[in-house]
Amino acid sequence: MIDPIEFIQNASSITKKSMNKLKLKTNPFSEKPIRGNTKFFVGRTTELIEIADILGAAQYGSISNAAIVGTKGIGKSSLLNVIYYAAKRQNHWTVELEASQVTPRQFLIHLMYGIIRDNIFAMDGTLSTDYMEHSQKIIDIYRRLESFSDKTPVHYPREKIERDLDYLLNNVKEEGKLCIILIDEADQFAKKSCLGLLQFFHSFLYDEGILSFFAGSPTLMENLTKVSPAMRDRFPKIINMPPLSKEEAYDLILRRLKDAQTVKANGYDPFTENAINTIVEECDGIPRRIIMTCSESISIGLKKGLTEIDENIVKTAMKKLGISIGHQILNHLTPAQSKIIKALAESGGKSTVTELAKILNNSPGTIGTHLSDIYEMGYIYKDRSGSNVYYILSKELKDVLIPEEENL
Ligand SMILES: Nc1ncnc2c1ncn2[C@@H]1O[C@H](COP(=O)(O)OP(=O)(O)O)[C@@H](O)[C@H]1O
Ligand SMILES: [Mg+2]
Repeated sequence: MIDPIEFIQNASSITKKSMNKLKLKTNPFSEKPIRGNTKFFVGRTTELIEIADILGAAQYGSISNAAIVGTKGIGKSSLLNVIYYAAKRQNHWTVELEASQVTPRQFLIHLMYGIIRDNIFAMDGTLSTDYMEHSQKIIDIYRRLESFSDKTPVHYPREKIERDLDYLLNNVKEEGKLCIILIDEADQFAKKSCLGLLQFFHSFLYDEGILSFFAGSPTLMENLTKVSPAMRDRFPKIINMPPLSKEEAYDLILRRLKDAQTVKANGYDPFTENAINTIVEECDGIPRRIIMTCSESISIGLKKGLTEIDENIVKTAMKKLGISIGHQILNHLTPAQSKIIKALAESGGKSTVTELAKILNNSPGTIGTHLSDIYEMGYIYKDRSGSNVYYILSKELKDVLIPEEENL
């Protein structure tokens, strides 16, 4: 019988030894948006200039809300958080919230609570008297919602919430100060149930002194305008986040490693040069992929007690994370395209426009257009036999979509 306490102690001392073998003090690749601590923040010069311009112009009255868009893991939340701290430092009122999983009513209460908590609570946790009565009421409501969820019958109707929010903002803005509202995961508002909320935003985001940044997917604006067409003119600026350049990707890895290396380490230790190159090549400049691949590679290295991590370990890590090329392609496709690709996989990886149109219950014209787009991108092949044109999945897509035993 082993003593369980001793067992855990032994196991963690082995990890410590393995960590030492890799010349690391800790695994420096934790997957979290960059918050406040910007020593790991790389690149994004173009985006930062755009943001600085927007903030600068807004201070002199020309306010234009902006949407920050990009694929998953590209760094939207991190950028939003940089804006938060920059705006705070300029003494603007700033509030940062996530749009996910809340009803419109809950969201507005969260928004008001955030504004009060982050901007009118004094350091000692008291409220300045001017806002006392009103704010205290909102805080009470917020606390009740937090502990009992939105299902409890708190009598605080939407119209009243909206009036209070207007009151709050108009009374608390000081001369020359903006109220900056940062909303992450804004695609969550692209639902019918959020139409009222979007309509409210439509007038609210036009108020003098309110500047808003919405972060979301590459199709954020399309998604929002589908629900409320008026949203488009509220976001005249779109900040599109491209992948990191190769240099920036190397920089991201190196900065994190440097922070965690022991004195014995040098360069990109514990990674071999080939390992680093593989990571940079395969992760397409997406920070989240780079970080997760590095982190997983280090975990494998620790488990195996290795002294260095080569490209084979990196490849194993990628397989485990499912960051195969096929997955990367799937991430690039629009929802309509990916539906077609899945139907093509279900037909064994080879099919015609007519067959796919039948499966998807759509017109051959539409399916044909999508297929030729996907063909142009090089993700499927064409094979002409007789009068039929067959579309065939690329090997990369077959690998992820068709189970091994069927995939000949
Ligand atoms: N400019 C950057 N420099 C360094 N690391 C970054 C940068 N942007 C994002 N990251 C890292 O990449 C990961 C994903 O970033 P995140 O902001 O959460 O992306 P998104 O919100 O677009 O999904 C996080 O671990 C974050 O720390
Ligand atoms: Mg995010």
